[in-house]
Amino acid sequence: MSTREIIILPDHRLKLVSAPVPEISRDVRKLVEDMFDTMYEAPGIGLAAIQIAVPTRVVTVDISRENEPRNPLAFINPRITWASEEMSCYQEGCLSIPEYYEEVERPARVRVSYRDLDFVEREIECDGLLATCIQHEIDHLNGVLFIDHLSKLKRDRVTKKFIKQARHREQGH
Ligand code: NI
Repeated sequence: MSTREIIILPDHRLKLVSAPVPEISRDVRKLVEDMFDTMYEAPGIGLAAIQIAVPTRVVTVDISRENEPRNPLAFINPRITWASEEMSCYQEGCLSIPEYYEEVERPARVRVSYRDLDFVEREIECDGLLATCIQHEIDHLNGVLFIDHLSKLKRDRVTKKFIKQARHREQGH
């Protein structure tokens, strides 16, 4: 098992647009493994590669509950091909913005094309928490955070708080 460090706000790398995976290599498999280890350890229900400082279009998700068997899902080069007009609202959080939660409205249902770990093209249609989670993670691949969906007031407030915390860490407090 090997976990990697999760980068947090205001790390500028979170704004990077991640590059597509050209093929499945040993490095990509290792990346996915480490992402699952890191996500389960955190613990979180979704992780984008950029959150461990790798600007590559890879997402891991597991929305199973604690008392259910694990259901690890890996998405290579995921993209939303259809989104419902109907919206739904979930309280979201992010491992890169620890201990901050806010309601975000997103399409209730989406269709996502992606490649699996054999680089086979696949498509799923999902709703509920999975739809929200996948949209949140695909946002990360485009340098977008869930706080970018909030009002400027809320976004500025949380960003300032994390800038302050980062300063404190640098000064060794
Ligand atoms: Ni996130």
